[in-house]
Amino acid sequence: MYTHLRDLLFKLDAETSHEFSLDLIGATERLQLIKFFLSDIPVNPVEVMGITFPNPVGLAAGLDKNGDYFNALGAMGFGFVEIGTITPRPQAGNAKPRLFRIPEAHAIINRMGFNNKGVDHLVERVKRRRFSGILGINIGKNAVTPVENAADDYVICMQKVYAHADYITVNVSSPNTQGLRDLQFGDSLNRLLEAIKNEQSKLQTLYGRYVPVAVKIAPDMDNDSVIQVAQTLLTQGIDGVIATNTTIGREGVEEFEISLEAGGLSGFPVRDKSTRVIRVLHSELGNQLPIIGVGGITDGESAAEKIKAGAKLVQLYSGFIYRGPRLISEAAKAIAALTN
Ligand SMILES: Cc1cc2nc3c(=O)[nH]c(=O)nc-3n(C[C@H](O)[C@H](O)[C@H](O)COP(=O)(O)O)c2cc1C
Repeated sequence: MYTHLRDLLFKLDAETSHEFSLDLIGATERLQLIKFFLSDIPVNPVEVMGITFPNPVGLAAGLDKNGDYFNALGAMGFGFVEIGTITPRPQAGNAKPRLFRIPEAHAIINRMGFNNKGVDHLVERVKRRRFSGILGINIGKNAVTPVENAADDYVICMQKVYAHADYITVNVSSPNTQGLRDLQFGDSLNRLLEAIKNEQSKLQTLYGRYVPVAVKIAPDMDNDSVIQVAQTLLTQGIDGVIATNTTIGREGVEEFEISLEAGGLSGFPVRDKSTRVIRVLHSELGNQLPIIGVGGITDGESAAEKIKAGAKLVQLYSGFIYRGPRLISEAAKAIAALTN
């Protein structure tokens, strides 16, 4: 069913079809028809960051930036859904067109630029949560906030979402906000994470609940840089790492004209880069800090590959756009087959 629907939707421009699909998923859930999109997901609870995830397959950040659709997306069988990236104030993002599909390569290029309705909107939505799985909230900075003041934006978002999140993701790896990825390195990363840990501790006292914080990193670093990041995350007492975001590289899509579009490349072409980062992280971190693997999962095998490389959980984005809900079940089954 999804294949027929997708063929129709793919005739529209990418962003229109994206918005239309989300509205359709939302309506389907409200009309209690979501069961027609469900395939069987094995029960396979996993404990990560002190949280029990009903199954290890989640939805990656960026599809539901504002928390408008997570109840419906969650009902499709994801063990966890990450909403956001959200910023303190609403912002329009980059000019359209800013989302491009390369179906032949199972790839997407986007330069959305954190278009979102602002953290207050998201908080109102999550207050009306029906999804019983795990909810992650991914936070970022506004484009107009100078990168030196980035910590202020992350702290504002933390204060607002803390009471509603099962875990919080600090996104320092989107390529579409100027200077954001510089926050992944050296003193900038240390200073940012210090501010975040400090706030987490205050909020834990205020709410009497510890909400773990994960940091999401880019695939575009050499092994030494990955090792440095891993050491900083450990030193700062961060709870998890999400690897990876989209790549600024164009390997695997050079032959397509769309590859000239600026933005982050996701889907099949980022698979190996992301798996390499997971492997290096795992060799450095062992079991001290859990890894959530994301990037280029298009079938059961590529999901299992992330777990074999050292991830405890996986997330889907581009593969879900191309393959639909059946990918959730394929990934969950392939992972269950590894562990059971
Ligand atoms: C259109 C689009 C928007 C995205 N927006 C975000 C975002 O707001 N925050 C974020 O952390 N990652 C964002 N991502 C990155 C994905 O969460 C994921 O890390 C990346 O696409 C690699 O996974 P994939 O190959 O399965 O798509 C976005 C990806 C796409 C394709």
